[in-house]
Amino acid sequence: MSNATLNLNGKTYELPVIVGSENEVGVNVTKLRGTSGAIAYDPGYGNTGSCQSAITFINGEEGILRYRGYPIEQLAKQSSFVEVCYLMVNGKLPNQAEYETFKNTLTRHTLLHEDMKKFFEGYPRGGHPMAVMSSMVTSLSAFYPESDDPEAINLNIIRLIAKFKTLAAFAYKKSIGQPYIYPRNDLSYTGDFLHMMFAVPAEPYEVSPIIEKALDMLLILHVDHEQNCSTSTVRMVGSSQANLFASISAGISALWGPLHGGANQKVLEMLEMIQADGGDYSKYMDMAKDKSSGFRLMGFGHRVYKNFDPRALILKEAADDVLSELGKEDPLLDIARGLEDIALNDDYFVSRKLYPNVDFYSGIIYRALGIPVDMFTVMFALGRLPGWIAQWHEMRNDPSMRINRPRQIYIGEGARDYVSIDKR
Ligand code: ACO
Repeated sequence: MSNATLNLNGKTYELPVIVGSENEVGVNVTKLRGTSGAIAYDPGYGNTGSCQSAITFINGEEGILRYRGYPIEQLAKQSSFVEVCYLMVNGKLPNQAEYETFKNTLTRHTLLHEDMKKFFEGYPRGGHPMAVMSSMVTSLSAFYPESDDPEAINLNIIRLIAKFKTLAAFAYKKSIGQPYIYPRNDLSYTGDFLHMMFAVPAEPYEVSPIIEKALDMLLILHVDHEQNCSTSTVRMVGSSQANLFASISAGISALWGPLHGGANQKVLEMLEMIQADGGDYSKYMDMAKDKSSGFRLMGFGHRVYKNFDPRALILKEAADDVLSELGKEDPLLDIARGLEDIALNDDYFVSRKLYPNVDFYSGIIYRALGIPVDMFTVMFALGRLPGWIAQWHEMRNDPSMRINRPRQIYIGEGARDYVSIDKR
């Protein structure tokens, strides 16, 4: 493909064009400032590619999502979360022996250093588990300092994936005042997480295979989503060569916001609010269309998907299946379906290409699985973890990587003289 040409202030600049393996086209502006003095201006980065990546492909117009080339629909139905972790971190699917080694290594690193338990004691009981998670993950770097040795980095990656579920379950136990339940090596990754969340010392706990499978699938659906807000944050922080734990902790903080991963909690609270208000969704649809109301239909809209979010399609079907397999009914699912039906036929939503996103139905499934609302965004983080790690690792191994440092267009005051306080 030929270069792009920019005409600026009577001069012509040739900008190289790069093309990705799925024919995505990018205009390379890395030399733009040096040659022309101008910068690319793109608030919200909707048109800015920050890196070249071989991890995840999304085509938002056609609703395509693939991890390392594998369609999300196939991975969600046929793979397991641990296998997808391997895929993300190593770039290929494991053979049987590689899978067993990876699984067993993960199993052997689930314990937390006993001193870390003391940190949990300091948090107030009602503290949000995302606050606990971001600080506990960055604290891991105090226990497992970074070295540049690739083997040591790989070990920290294993530690992080293994310990994250223990941290998440301990954060939950702390929030409800129950004793921590230690990991069990005979359970699967997801089964062990459920055991640490829901077992109590007084009774035996059996992991429900239906819940284990459903949760595993939910985690797979959240694994990666290319350069979204939290992943870009991980890369941004990691670009200063901050360590793995510190970079992932920053991603957790970014994910927490209601416009990102925090939306799953907000969706459920919205559905509960509509239910408590008599279930009249049309009132809330009107509010969502009225900008002055400050109300958004949570779980709707996406920066990239403009036709449908393939994860939402899988989850809508899964919500029905999980509820019927567990023999449960949930009036919130009816409210969600009703809202979706109205939105899909309403000109405001249709013209803006606003469709349900991954967060719209996930909360209903988490609720059916017994996961408390405060933990929804932690579940998202647990799923997203291997994606963040893969992106951090790819960035660290990219020889062209420089510290991320955007520019700005200054719109403040011109130079002016300081006036002492008694003369103002
Ligand atoms: N409800 C009502 N109106 C909406 C919604 C919504 N959920 N989402 C977007 N709009 C409207 C905007 O007001 C805007 O209207 P306008 O063109 O008349 O000004 C238009 O649609 C475009 O919206 P933007 O905010 O510019 O879209 P952007 O790409 O910046 O934001 C986002 C995407 C943040 C996901 C947005 O749709 C939103 O806030 N959704 C609700 C929160 C949510 O579900 N977040 C989870 C996203 S998925 C994830 O992170 C895992």
